[in-house]
Amino acid sequence: MTTDAVSRSSAAHNEEMVPRYTLAERVNHWIGALAYIYLLITGLAFWSPYLYWLAAVVGGGPVARAWHPWVGLIFTASLFWSFKQWHGDMKIDDADRAWAKAIPNYIQNEDDKLPPVGRFNYGQKLFFWAMFYSVILLLLSGITLWYTEALPWSLRFVRYAAILIHASVALFTIGLFLIHVYMSAILEEGSFGSMVHGYVTRAWAWTFHRSWYEQVSGGSRRVQ
Ligand code: HEM
Repeated sequence: MTTDAVSRSSAAHNEEMVPRYTLAERVNHWIGALAYIYLLITGLAFWSPYLYWLAAVVGGGPVARAWHPWVGLIFTASLFWSFKQWHGDMKIDDADRAWAKAIPNYIQNEDDKLPPVGRFNYGQKLFFWAMFYSVILLLLSGITLWYTEALPWSLRFVRYAAILIHASVALFTIGLFLIHVYMSAILEEGSFGSMVHGYVTRAWAWTFHRSWYEQVSGGSRRVQ
């Protein structure tokens, strides 16, 4: 969503809340989240015999094997759609580098010493790009595994590489996913609601994303 669009809908909305996510952004986010959870359950079931019982939760091994690649395509499409929606807001800039230098203040809870943050903070941007490049690797290795019988035996190293890449990148994304859910949905009170109904309070916007708040509210209004 462009800053102009946010400002326009903000003016049209009530005084207390600021629009943060459009309906399209929220629908796409939850399609991606549901797809990822399905991939997580079925992928872990394929990864270890100790976790194979997870497949029973989603209809059994053969059903999981048939659906996993298709849901992988849905997840990929959702991330590509996110790229279309957010790549402008996700650009890493000087403000992010200044924020990264102030990480010691963040760790010591000295939030007043942190530089103001735009629509997304540095951590959110790193998460987005890490997920985006991971999904490309997962897609390429996943397609190789999907049609693995089509590969001649002389190219078996491609199959081995695909197995290694698919599993290790998937494990990496699980780490990202756990951090994301903790940071976005648990740590920052008010964030979860913004991904459900689309709005945040002015106080939330001022506290966590001050430069963005100043842009969308058309001035540097202090809220406490
Ligand atoms: C149950 C799972 C998930 C929950 C509860 C969740 C929750 C949230 C929340 C509350 C936000 C808004 C954060 C804010 O504006 O401060 C958000 C944003 C976002 N989510 Fe998720 N999410 C989940 C899964 C995923 C997955 C699987 C992806 C995969 C790419 C993802 C990608 C993003 C991105 C890129 C953003 C915007 C930047 C950010 O806040 O990190 N989410 N999510």
